[in-house]
Amino acid sequence: MKSSITHGVKILSTGSAVPHFSLNNQTISEIVQTSDEWISTRTGIKERRLLTGSHQSVIDLAILASRKALDKISMDPSQIDLIILATSSPNDLFGSASQIQFKIGAVNAVAFDLTAACSGFVLGIVTASQFIRSGTYCNILVIGADVLSKWVDWSDRSTCILFGDAAGAAILQSCSDIENSILNFQLNTDGYYSSHLSIPYQDNDKPHAFLNLHQGSFKYLYMNGREVYKFAVSQVPLSILKCLNSLNMSVNDINWLLLHQANERILNAVAEKLSISRDKIIANLSKYGNTSAASIPLALDEALQESKIVDNDIVVIAGFGAGLTWGTIIVRWKEFTLG
Ligand code: COA
Repeated sequence: MKSSITHGVKILSTGSAVPHFSLNNQTISEIVQTSDEWISTRTGIKERRLLTGSHQSVIDLAILASRKALDKISMDPSQIDLIILATSSPNDLFGSASQIQFKIGAVNAVAFDLTAACSGFVLGIVTASQFIRSGTYCNILVIGADVLSKWVDWSDRSTCILFGDAAGAAILQSCSDIENSILNFQLNTDGYYSSHLSIPYQDNDKPHAFLNLHQGSFKYLYMNGREVYKFAVSQVPLSILKCLNSLNMSVNDINWLLLHQANERILNAVAEKLSISRDKIIANLSKYGNTSAASIPLALDEALQESKIVDNDIVVIAGFGAGLTWGTIIVRWKEFTLG
């Protein structure tokens, strides 16, 4: 249903899910030449959860996270108008969101995938907000879910130590403009550096004999760690400052800094550049590693469960990753009940 009134956006509920199997640094050092000391000091990661076993996919984790978010507010799935699944590890290249729509019983929802790697959840929230602000949809489920363990080369010590599997979900709802929680956003893309972090498709050498048509497959995740590190530490603070400036806010207004959980050193360096005290950083990557599109909603859900974030707190959320893509959302946290 469309209307010309500008609507506000509130975050009604969150949920998250991680696989049971935990792989700690000590055990990884039995697979590749590394050590707990190297991984801990360079990344802050101690363990990560992996989706092991057959017939398990990103969809299973996404469904669990979504059901938890729905159950918290006793929302009937049929009330959901739109599902956005941010993932770079679908188990169907045509998209996985429709399977989630079916399996959770969101019979009235449109559903699609959004691919923007570790910035996916930020892009998903911004996309959902546009549908709500325009009056197109009222209730939107945004999911960030990834199982990069399926795409990592487990003999490459420079990447396999970093990633874990998880899903996080948030339910957004239309509200009056005065109650609006999503105060502002700022997004960026620079495809020039796309090769620094990629899961590239590659043609096979031999084309189809008759058609001269090449077919191929996706390769393992490739990363130029140093370049990605430099990019994150230089660009993320700029995005946050731009976003704050256009609201006439300053870093002093920030209660919580919730960055994509890639590396503890990146989190600390960004906070330092912005002169934000370390105790305002939300971090859980020591337990889960980099869970790509899931990292922000997983950390948000945990911070809410621990009652860190309270009513009216200003939460600065920033995602960054492959693309390269990066962006910021500024949220004034509101505790809401189902309207
Ligand atoms: N254990 C032990 N040694 C390792 C290792 C591991 N797991 N991985 C790499 N090394 C070695 C390298 O082989 C290299 O050895 P050399 O000096 O003999 O050649 C040395 O450690 C330094 O490697 P380098 O890649 O330069 O390390 P680094 O200090 O840049 O740290 C990262 C590597 C990946 C931790 C760091 O670059 C990083 O965090 N980058 C950002 C990654 C990221 O967050 N990506 C996701 C963004 S969404």
